[in-house]
Amino acid sequence: MASLATNCAGLVLRNPILSASGTFGHGLEMQHFAPPSCLGGLVSKTVTLKPRHGNPHPRIAETEAGLLNSIGLENRGIEAYLRDVLPQMASADCVVVTNIGGERVEDFAELAACLDARPEVDALEINLSCPNVQGGKLPFSTDPRMAEAVVRGVRAATRKPLFAKLSPNVTDIGEIARAAEAAGADAITAVNTLLGMSVDWRTGKPGINTVMGGYSGAGIKPVALRCAWQCVRSVRIPVIGCGGIATAHDVLEYLVVGCRAVEVGTACFSDPSQLARLAPEIARLLEERGIESIEHLIGTLRTTLPVQPAPAGAR
Ligand code: SIN
Repeated sequence: MASLATNCAGLVLRNPILSASGTFGHGLEMQHFAPPSCLGGLVSKTVTLKPRHGNPHPRIAETEAGLLNSIGLENRGIEAYLRDVLPQMASADCVVVTNIGGERVEDFAELAACLDARPEVDALEINLSCPNVQGGKLPFSTDPRMAEAVVRGVRAATRKPLFAKLSPNVTDIGEIARAAEAAGADAITAVNTLLGMSVDWRTGKPGINTVMGGYSGAGIKPVALRCAWQCVRSVRIPVIGCGGIATAHDVLEYLVVGCRAVEVGTACFSDPSQLARLAPEIARLLEERGIESIEHLIGTLRTTLPVQPAPAGAR
């Protein structure tokens, strides 16, 4: 049996597959489809300091090759999360990652401080990249100084491993990844949704109330894969790929470009149980090729470009 275990930001993952934030509840809601024991890790829906109702409906629209959303970080706030959700997560047989979001730089550090003492949480993912709040301005992930300020604040508040989740809606994602690394991030999650829109020409109405929203799913995979690769080339910390992943082949593509793990998101909406089928299928594909460990595949992209990327997570 090929080994799927991998190491990412100091965390031991039984396999490189994590649920992407916002697509799998806060954690255990989907266990009847995909038990935590078949995953490397669970990433929660973004938690904010105060409860948020989210954006007006409609806030989800299906497109030809994916999904548009404008949820607006709906959640019950950190108090409810600490009280009602985290105690259940103690029984999760996989790595538990809490995704945090805020409107001000200080919000992120405050959230990290609230979570720091909680043993149920193995790592924090900093959502720098939600396109559905602050008028879609993405202040924390389009300006490297802002990204750095947020990560630095969180770093000062906790010793837990930190993933910085970046936006693809930038000219040079490598620059933002380097800023997050310099501020103390332990891994980069690449990427969140692309800014998109849809319209019904008959009614003249946009698919979602906010007109623009986050586009995810199969259609974004080439863009997300490119972003992940650019991050791999830009930083020494591990990169976690995210965007358009549905099959075992998709996972392996992200690993070949240098990611040490992946997050599966939109695919969970059509069939959450496919998350549980990915690891056995990956093991089968590796065995077919005579590859003993998934580690042997990470960063093996063959390119004639002069600068070959160092495998992410080299340290
Ligand atoms: C949302 O809640 O609007 C989606 C989350 C995100 O894009 O970060």
